[in-house]
Amino acid sequence: MKVLVIGGGAREHALCRSLSLDPAVTALHCAPGNAGIADVAELHQVDALDGKAVAALAAELGAGLVIVGPEAPLVAGVADAVREAGIPCFGPSKEAARLEGSKAFAKDVMAGAGVPTARSYVCTTPEEVDEALDAFGAPYVVKDDGLAAGKGVVVTDDVEQAREHALACGRVVIEEFLDGPEVSLFAVTDGRTVVPLRPAQDFKRALDGDEGPNTGGMGAYSPLPWADPKLVDEVQETVLQPTVDELSRRGTPFSGLLYAGLAITSRGVRVIEFNARFGDPETQVVLARLRTPLAGLLLAAANGTLADLPPLRWSDDAAVTVVIASHNYPGTPRTGDPIEGLADVASQDAPDAYVLHAGTKHDGDDSGTVVSAGGRVLSVTATGADLAQARERAYAAVARIRLDGSQHRTDIAEKAADEA
Ligand code: AMP
Ligand code: GLY
Repeated sequence: MKVLVIGGGAREHALCRSLSLDPAVTALHCAPGNAGIADVAELHQVDALDGKAVAALAAELGAGLVIVGPEAPLVAGVADAVREAGIPCFGPSKEAARLEGSKAFAKDVMAGAGVPTARSYVCTTPEEVDEALDAFGAPYVVKDDGLAAGKGVVVTDDVEQAREHALACGRVVIEEFLDGPEVSLFAVTDGRTVVPLRPAQDFKRALDGDEGPNTGGMGAYSPLPWADPKLVDEVQETVLQPTVDELSRRGTPFSGLLYAGLAITSRGVRVIEFNARFGDPETQVVLARLRTPLAGLLLAAANGTLADLPPLRWSDDAAVTVVIASHNYPGTPRTGDPIEGLADVASQDAPDAYVLHAGTKHDGDDSGTVVSAGGRVLSVTATGADLAQARERAYAAVARIRLDGSQHRTDIAEKAADEA
């Protein structure tokens, strides 16, 4: 099977790495990709938001499966265009991707499906905003209704800051604050059958100890030794299946990756948000543990035949990923800095540690130098018998990488490893 992956971050590198290890994959293409993905896939240039262009590229390559990684092309309807061209596509339709594209839509689906989530108001006027902020009290949670690349949510004790964010966004969802640890649980679905993957935890804040601004994610680990072993079954029953059933009932079935961002509160599991695609950096650790070949799983979702698949197989290993980010991330990042040490990791830690690329590219000349090209630059991933070993290996690999001005958290999975 020839496979085309759309996107170019560490998530797509993780997907491409797994696909490259799947014997069913005879050719692997990625657009636009990055300097690391270039080692496992042939790269192409395409406007990822242009469905017709993506479908044309897939047809030209003879792709038997297209996987759309990021949310923006999904919300723009790229998966629809690929399917209309008769090519199987992993990723929800434009209509179903509204589950991520509009927080208000997601709340409406959850209400229809009886899925537990924070109580909320959708507000468009300053009066509505004030009323909602008053009703819930501090800490205030204010969310831009639309896609905001992880920057649309403000959680604050400062009512003025909450009000300012709400007025700057226009249409917002204001909701009850959820206490308790967060868990990301992904499920592969064909619109009927729902196959949950293993839970992971993401570190959203820039600095150690969960300090500093929100980011796209600074690291992740899986499994979660502290979580209730029944968590996955419970979320399958109370969140994932009802949501998929509700979207099917509405005539907009969701096929692809359903990402449930959950809070394990003192009053039970609540959905913080849904995403319509694999999460980054959680994908890096979840796929590190998946033993079932990836292409067959995603193709079954695209073709509506997930019910026929045998249960997924998982490694008992733990996995940890640590993100190396550019100077000044999550503000405007500095780019163009050379990255050194990539070959050291490949030679000294393999196969237990490896570097997945996010914002990287080859320098313009022929030197083979890889330079930073985005906020999150690398996602250094390692597996081990337990979290402590995976952590040790990941940080040993991080220490071999040199990127001027770069930053990373030093406490990814630390608490979970200590408690395990
Ligand atoms: P989101 O973009 O919806 O993932 O939100 C980003 C982050 O804001 C989440 O990972 C949480 O840490 C936090 N957050 C969102 N909604 C809530 C809530 N209702 N209560 C507490 N924290 C929240
Ligand atoms: N890990 C957060 C996200 O992918 O949205």
